[in-house]
Amino acid sequence: MFGRTKSKAWRKLESLYKHSNDVHMRDLFAEDEARGRHYTQQLENMLVDYSKNRVDDKIMAALFELARERGVAEKIEAMFSGKKINKTENRAVLHIALRNRSNKPIYVDGRDVMPQINATLEKIKDFSESVRLGRFVGHTGKKLTNIVNIGIGGSDLGPYMVTEALRHYWAKDINCYFISNIDGTSCAEVLNNIDPETTLFIVASKTFTTIETLTNARTCRKWLTDTLGEHAVAKHFVALSTNKEEVEKFGINPNNMFEFWDFVGGRYSMWSAIGLIIAIAVGYNNFERMLEGAFAMDQHFATADFEHNIPVILALIGIWYNNFYNVHRYGVIPYDQYLQYLPAYLQQLDMESNGKTVTLDNQFVDYATGPVLFGGAGTNVQHSFFQLLHQGTEMVPVDFIIPAISHNEIGNHHQILLANVLAQGEALMSGKTEDEAAAELEKAGKSKAEIARLKKYKSFSGNRPSNTIILRKVDPYSLGMLIAMYEHKVYVQGVIWNINSFDQFGVELGKKLALNILPEFEGDAFGVEHDSSTTNLINYVKQIRK
Ligand code: F6P
Repeated sequence: MFGRTKSKAWRKLESLYKHSNDVHMRDLFAEDEARGRHYTQQLENMLVDYSKNRVDDKIMAALFELARERGVAEKIEAMFSGKKINKTENRAVLHIALRNRSNKPIYVDGRDVMPQINATLEKIKDFSESVRLGRFVGHTGKKLTNIVNIGIGGSDLGPYMVTEALRHYWAKDINCYFISNIDGTSCAEVLNNIDPETTLFIVASKTFTTIETLTNARTCRKWLTDTLGEHAVAKHFVALSTNKEEVEKFGINPNNMFEFWDFVGGRYSMWSAIGLIIAIAVGYNNFERMLEGAFAMDQHFATADFEHNIPVILALIGIWYNNFYNVHRYGVIPYDQYLQYLPAYLQQLDMESNGKTVTLDNQFVDYATGPVLFGGAGTNVQHSFFQLLHQGTEMVPVDFIIPAISHNEIGNHHQILLANVLAQGEALMSGKTEDEAAAELEKAGKSKAEIARLKKYKSFSGNRPSNTIILRKVDPYSLGMLIAMYEHKVYVQGVIWNINSFDQFGVELGKKLALNILPEFEGDAFGVEHDSSTTNLINYVKQIRK
């Protein structure tokens, strides 16, 4: 165990860090002409180049040793065999079962989970095809062409990100909308643009108790029944949940419910029922292709040795910066407009999973756990936060993601996009010395005085790390692989930090606290004490709203 008593590999990495800090990646590339190939892994059509990191063979070996010491292989096996690795909630963690295309049995409490998973997938297939073909129609007989997903967190971010990422595959006559925020604007802006007769609402909530989702769903239900009457609900509302009782209480017929189970975490749930809107938008075949892509990554993760295991390698490189460089942040920059919501999705995946301070042995950690993740689509973000990535005082490791082929090969747009992403990685790695900056200024005809004045501003330290992930195309299969890769990376890091990546008590606290303040605004609060700042703020807003 490391932490209180540090492990052997951990101590080795600490000592390697002391030396590595003085090494520039430029020199590493100069020393090894094949470094690019040497630190690249390929799985089918996905290539991951991790050569632009501050690592060498010794560091990688020590990182692999750390993974072995921490029992990563055993923990991978524990997840895949349905062990209850979510210790605080006493649950198995089986998103991998949702896309288990081999259909090999996976047992939880002695029961194979595959039959129920297959039954839900079959139901998704039938229903999505019926909606797409106009067999399941609205109350007045019209085709359902506006599909509205009402959910939040894992019941929103996954389907939203994937649906947008696969927009190219949407049925031409179907439009998808997402209502997540409790802010009435979220509902209003969708409802103002759709027609109840052609709208299907999908209420997505694992627990079916989340206040945002239920409030939004009630508002949408009223909007629908005000025009079409109570009987219309059966033809315009379906539920995705683990909680049949609450679904019935809400007034949705259990026949219109797509079930999932407590061994599927919210942020890992888009591979089955929660993915219904994806299947309707892009067709069940494409949905299945996404499952197949994820399954390919699962197989790779479960069987490849660490030295060739993409999620393990990415996880270890993350640990290297997080725990030895003390860099607790990283950026994910997809160079693809369709992937613009990937960073938001990954924020929940990574930060809700690994934003933890207590170990699985019930001790407070004395080392850093999950980093802060941020990002956005390139090239846009080159014109927002990249200045800091290049010349700021903070080192920010980055994942660049780009497809080799665009769905929209218009003129030379994609060549420019490709050139940009590769240039960014190269510039972050190599930087520009003051001498190089001076030579450029001289070439541009600047005076000696001007060169002296400007060369520092125009220089770049470089030595800033990045991974480059190239997909062939943003298609359902590659997307499945990519998402599964990040899921497994997050898990490996959680294992190394000895934390439970599958609970989220921190978010649940926020849900409760809001309920303490709500009565203040609904006019029936009494006897609830707040700190003076909160009291002042409540009174200020109340005064304005009077
Ligand atoms: O944000 C906390 C959380 O519990 C997430 O884990 C989950 O994805 C989200 O709320 C929504 O919960 P539910 O699907 O139960 O409505």
